[in-house]
Amino acid sequence: MNVVSEGKAHIRTNEKVFFNPKMSTLRDMSVAFLLAYGCAGKTLLDATAATGVRAIRYYKECGIGSATAIDINKNAYKLCRKNILLNNVDVDCKNVSIQEFANNSDEKFDIIDLDPFGSPAPDIYDLMKISKDGTVLMATATDTAVLCGAHSAACLKQYNSKPLHNELCKEVGIRILMCYISKIAAQFNFGSVPLMCISDMHYMRVFIKLESGAKNAYGAVRFGGIGTFCHSCGRFDFKRGVSPLIGNVCADCSSEVEGFGPLWLGNLYDKGLSLKVAKAQGSRLAECISKEFDTPLFYSVPKMTKRLGLSSISHYKVIEALSDLGYTATATQFDDNGIKTDATAKEVSKCIKALSRSNKG
Ligand SMILES: C[S@@+](CC[C@H](N)C(=O)[O-])C[C@H]1O[C@@H](n2cnc3c(N)ncnc32)[C@H](O)[C@@H]1O
Ligand SMILES: [Zn+2]
Repeated sequence: MNVVSEGKAHIRTNEKVFFNPKMSTLRDMSVAFLLAYGCAGKTLLDATAATGVRAIRYYKECGIGSATAIDINKNAYKLCRKNILLNNVDVDCKNVSIQEFANNSDEKFDIIDLDPFGSPAPDIYDLMKISKDGTVLMATATDTAVLCGAHSAACLKQYNSKPLHNELCKEVGIRILMCYISKIAAQFNFGSVPLMCISDMHYMRVFIKLESGAKNAYGAVRFGGIGTFCHSCGRFDFKRGVSPLIGNVCADCSSEVEGFGPLWLGNLYDKGLSLKVAKAQGSRLAECISKEFDTPLFYSVPKMTKRLGLSSISHYKVIEALSDLGYTATATQFDDNGIKTDATAKEVSKCIKALSRSNKG
């Protein structure tokens, strides 16, 4: 049996229970998030505990008031109990499924961490039963191939949404996940407020605050909508609403467009909180998120130059040129060469063409 140290926790691992040391950066990010959010004295449920590393770290590093760790797997439960003893923390541990636990628990939690194998979708409904006004749900999805459109039919089945399999896929995927959760939450009279959303390596993670009340629930559902993408010129359009009317021909080049969604079209971040997380954790990803212009979708500069038949150009130069023209323009976590801006596809193309000409001159 191995003992791994991560943060302030010492974790026994074995071959029967899931533990991925590479996910430590994501766990660090969650610790930084909880510290920035402020969780002293709050109650936490680690709904998919495995070794118990998250519950133990949150308890030791974030000042959680009381923590419960559950896992459906007997081996995980046994190892989690050992790790709780090893770390001398007051964490309650149960060998139970989310579904059984949620249907029998009187307790409602302030913070819930959900980190399943693959999709979090099947567990959201039950977790709403043990949520309350102000609950923060932190949910990971590792079915990114589904959310990113490699398996379009699977996404329709799992999330009732059509993904987009191109350069925008990660952001569209995270917005599909966010939209799905907000609709389930609304059935329980909760509005969903995204505090932070992350796409990295093979996972996506959303940090959502639930706010009670029919008005909040209705308001959040109205952030859903649909989008279209033009593969000829890179223009995208989106519209909020349950069944909004949106054209099937590109307004710029008259090519037929591809539709996608429903997806979340509201903000993805609480800016103040993202900034605090970036300051505390200092990772490149956290830094990028804290500076990102919070608007749906972006332009991939290499894809734009390719469509225009031009040689590649630094996306930083495009950001600088657009900013000089008075537009808001920033880098994005969703694409190393992407830009988020309030300039239109036509304006971005014009800017890229001008930069390309001056590069040659
Ligand atoms: C990806 S692992 C969790 C890893 C852990 N959070 C970490 O950071 O190391 C997923 C765990 O969820 C458990 N699990 C799967 N379905 C479950 C369910 N319906 N209820 C409770 N636990 C479940 C599995 O047994 C497994 O231990
Ligand atoms: Zn077009």
